[in-house]
Amino acid sequence: MFAQRIERLTSSLVRDILAAASREGMISFAGGLPATEVLYRPAFPDAADVDCWQYGQSEGEPALREMIAAQARQLGIDCTAQQVLVLSGSQQGIDLVAKLFVEAGTEVAVESPAYLAALQVFSLFGADFSPVPVDTVGGPDMAAFSQAIARARLTYLTPTFQNPSGYCYTDAQRDDIAARLDAANAPLFEDDPYRDLSYDGAAPRPICSRLRRAPWIYQGSFSKTLAPGLRLGFLVVHPSLIDPLTRLKQAADLHTNRLSQVLVMEMLCDGRLARHVENALPLYRDRRAAMDAALQRHVGRQARWHVPAGGLFFWVQFGQGVDTRRLMADALALGVAVMPGDAFFSGEAPASYLRLNFSHASPADIDTGMARLTSALALQTPALV
Ligand SMILES: Cc1ncc(COP(=O)(O)O)c(C=O)c1O
Repeated sequence: MFAQRIERLTSSLVRDILAAASREGMISFAGGLPATEVLYRPAFPDAADVDCWQYGQSEGEPALREMIAAQARQLGIDCTAQQVLVLSGSQQGIDLVAKLFVEAGTEVAVESPAYLAALQVFSLFGADFSPVPVDTVGGPDMAAFSQAIARARLTYLTPTFQNPSGYCYTDAQRDDIAARLDAANAPLFEDDPYRDLSYDGAAPRPICSRLRRAPWIYQGSFSKTLAPGLRLGFLVVHPSLIDPLTRLKQAADLHTNRLSQVLVMEMLCDGRLARHVENALPLYRDRRAAMDAALQRHVGRQARWHVPAGGLFFWVQFGQGVDTRRLMADALALGVAVMPGDAFFSGEAPASYLRLNFSHASPADIDTGMARLTSALALQTPALV
């Protein structure tokens, strides 16, 4: 009865776990939720005075496109407002780009591990994956990268505080990747929603800003810096890609919610967004420290992790004997939600990783949640705990 691609629609583990995570008394390390305390709460404009109730342009509000282009130029991306497409959340950008490039059997080069919901979208459209291993300490495997881009029609990377590994590509790695993409004239889709949540100094410039020849798509989001409920993200793209992407956007939803665009424009005036983020960073640094301390206190030598320099996640590797799917189920029963790492691999998946979000729970809850997680771990490794 349904289209064949529906068979490729994997059940969303994230949605199932997030549903469980919202149960009374549950502490959640599972989602990618920014801290509720620092979500942007607009002083609501007088709705009657705001000119946003008629249909708008598929590309987005012209003034907002100008502001987004100006920010992209500050990151070294040579662009004009004509290259900007405002999105209903950056997840929509993944959908539109997949529609543009991916059909049954299309090879897509992806990091291993990679953002789970991007893997789901590419799979839905029939992608086969060419995985590029990314080490939490050393970064991407460059030999695998060259092999992958030789086969792939599209390369999808999250080089800045990657979801889930937290890894941030160095300047040298970004230059090297840009040179290899240019040599192969291989299109890059760079997803960059965590850039501003940088705790130990500014992140290196995007890879897109270093390309000289290869087509590129740069994606950002206001979900992590302002509020996910706004559902506002954007693409800035190589001039050759703006027309087909705009037509796909039009076919998808005509245009992005105009009230959200008005609210974000207000925040982009006079450096307000930058100040909002600056004020939120101490809270994120505290929670990152609280999770590191709780891991050391409760989990200790049973796992390995690196303190991420940005983003929202710890990527924790347990010993070989630990099955993190089972750990997730046992932990849920004890009142803490976590995300098993195997969901983030497109190919063969190790069972020993967990992704832990540190931004949503308070420091006290982080400690309590970690104690619960350790009790769940003890069910599998009683000798160690
Ligand atoms: C790497 C990455 N891309 C895209 C998204 C989607 O974000 P949104 O649709 O809220 O802009 C997320 C959300 O967690 C993400 O981690």
